[in-house]
Parts: sequence; structure tokens; C-alpha cells
Amino acid sequence: MSGNAPDVAELKRRAAEQAVENVRSGMVVGLGTGSTAKFAVEAIGRKLKHGELSDIVGIATSIQTRDLAESVGVPLTTLNERPVIDLTIDGADEIDPEGNLVKGGGGALLWEKIVATASRQLFIVADESKLVTRLGESFPLPVEVIGFGWKTHEAPLREIGAEPVLRLDAAGDPYVTDEGHYIIDCRFPGGITDLEAVYDTVGKRPGVVETGLFLNMSPQVIIGRSERV
Ligand code: A5P
Repeated sequence: MSGNAPDVAELKRRAAEQAVENVRSGMVVGLGTGSTAKFAVEAIGRKLKHGELSDIVGIATSIQTRDLAESVGVPLTTLNERPVIDLTIDGADEIDPEGNLVKGGGGALLWEKIVATASRQLFIVADESKLVTRLGESFPLPVEVIGFGWKTHEAPLREIGAEPVLRLDAAGDPYVTDEGHYIIDCRFPGGITDLEAVYDTVGKRPGVVETGLFLNMSPQVIIGRSERV
């Protein structure tokens, strides 16, 4: 990298703004969560303000994103009012060569997955550091669970090769999601070898609400690169 290479935030912004070029007036738009998706929400707000877009309604994937959208002037609706989303722009923690994802580093995986699943088009925006050859190799897989009996998941998670750690907040208390759940972060040394097996085994446990594995969603991945291609 040269001394003039753009910083990571600039690469995230480039990817997000490129995805926003696909937003058309009149669309229902899923608004992702995180430091990359934030640039997309801000860009949509600017385009609405300048009259380049109109009649957009957003669906936020977290309370944090809801607050951001309100602050930059993106009108919001709910998934129950508009259950089909035209296009969603969201970030990811890891992206494998098939477009499978790990998400949930920001704790919003549950709403993010519901929104992504309700979307006709899913754009994933990220900088190059999110590209991996195997999911789980650089980022722990978040597993969202209800608080009741959360420790019962630890041993079964270890049995499938995970190193489970309950996510804590800054005060050292269990981190609580927007839906009032806990998150168990699961590091898989060497990465996850069988994605479907982990997805099925973990996902069917009573008390597990969702995992951060986003499989077979065929997203359009936009990577902000150091060099424009
Ligand atoms: C939020 O829960 C996550 O899924 C984020 O989308 C993901 O962590 C990417 O965030 P950054 O864009 O901040 O890396």
C-alpha cells in the first residue's frame, strides 16, 4: 500500500455509495447496520434531500440504524406494513467465494436476516478485509439465543468445534440485542468446514433464535478496493 492509499473508511464509503446507485425512486429499501451500511443510509438521505430520489421508504435492521435514518431524513416504515423489500444494502463480517456470509458483529443479525430474506435484491458492501476463503477463519460466528438456559448451548457448541463465549457489553454484563436476546460468539479455529451442518445443528437447538450464517442468499457483493477497477 502506498502512503496515498485510501483508508478503510473510504473503501467502505465507496462500496456503499456504489450500491446506492441501484436505489430507484419509489423503492422499499432495507437499511443495514454497521460502519459500512451507515454510508449507504447517509447517501440515500443526501439523495432524498437533493431530489435525486423520492418516495423512498426504509426498513431499519436495528434501533441504531433507525435512529441514523431518522437523523439523515430517510422515512421509515415497518416490515409488517411493507413485507416485500425491493433492495437491501448491508455489511458483513466475512464473505466467502460463494457469497455466503457471517454477520452479526454489530449484534443486529436477527433483524438483518429477516430483512435480507424479505428482499428481492441483497447488496453486501464491504472493504477487502471481509473476503475470506472459509467462513469463521477470521471472525467468530454470532449465535443469538434467549437468556433462559443459554449455558446449555456451550457444550454442544464445543462438540462441533466452536469456542463459545458469551458476548458482554462495556459494563461487563451480557450484551442484549434489540429483541432482548443474548449472543454467544463462536470462534472456529481454522474456520467452519461444513456450513450446512453447523447451520442445521445449531439452528435447531431450542433457545437458539438465529445464527449469523447467511447461506445461499446470492447477494451482489460490492467491495471497496484500494485501486479502482
Ligand atoms: C451488524 O450486526 C453486522 O452484521 C454488520 O453488518 C457487520 O458487522 C459489518 O459491520 P461493519 O460494516 O461495521 O464492518
